[in-house]
Amino acid sequence: MDIALAVIGGTGVYRLAALEDVQTRHFDTPYGAPSGPLRIGRLGGAQVAFLARHGEGHALPPHRVNYRANLHALQQAGGRRVLALNTVGGITEGYGPRVLACPDQIIDYTWGRESTYWDGEGEALHVDFGQPYSPALRTRVLAAAQAAGVAVVDGGCYGATQGPRLETNAEIARLRRDGCDLVGMTGMPEAGLARELGLDYACLAIVANWAAGCGDATEEITLAEVLDNVAAASAGLADLVAELARNG
Ligand code: HPA
Repeated sequence: MDIALAVIGGTGVYRLAALEDVQTRHFDTPYGAPSGPLRIGRLGGAQVAFLARHGEGHALPPHRVNYRANLHALQQAGGRRVLALNTVGGITEGYGPRVLACPDQIIDYTWGRESTYWDGEGEALHVDFGQPYSPALRTRVLAAAQAAGVAVVDGGCYGATQGPRLETNAEIARLRRDGCDLVGMTGMPEAGLARELGLDYACLAIVANWAAGCGDATEEITLAEVLDNVAAASAGLADLVAELARNG
């Protein structure tokens, strides 16, 4: 099947409501089961596959997501380009709640996750990862955002933490010193695995809250606040994705 675009939805994005003529397909992979079925339908006149990273009922925390199976399933379905939607906290100025950003770098602070398809058999898989997100797909995402009239910040560094708890103020201060603008729990190993599979992969980060100790974050971070901001920031998402599928 020719899939113009595969979309992985994060916290607060469990479906693409604008998808038409949706078929549900279940995939099995050598790495186990993906987070749920793929919803494949038409958007922007093209075929789009959608997968909810945490499962459609959000049953899977970030460290339990089977990232290898998810990407393998999308590839089996015919996906070559993957737009990852990641709900994140904002660290630096310009990355406050409700901002959409297309980061260009990532630092991996996660541990204990299955982070490679290379288990020591066959040819060594030391893939190049200097530019962790596909520059060509990032350019297309930014162009689609502009065409759809959706503001997206170009660039930024995503710090991928283990979770599922949120970070301490000191941990976020360290991430800031390291050069991170955003913090989330699902950016890795997904981006690295996509590179191993040779997929074009880019991230659209949805800022749900100021990270611990940042911005005007004096209050506790609540799930209600996170979901509210994701819903507000997602308003133009369907148009952006349709534009990307059409011209991507
Ligand atoms: N930290 C890590 N992950 C997140 C956050 C955060 O503040 N907000 C949404 N996902």
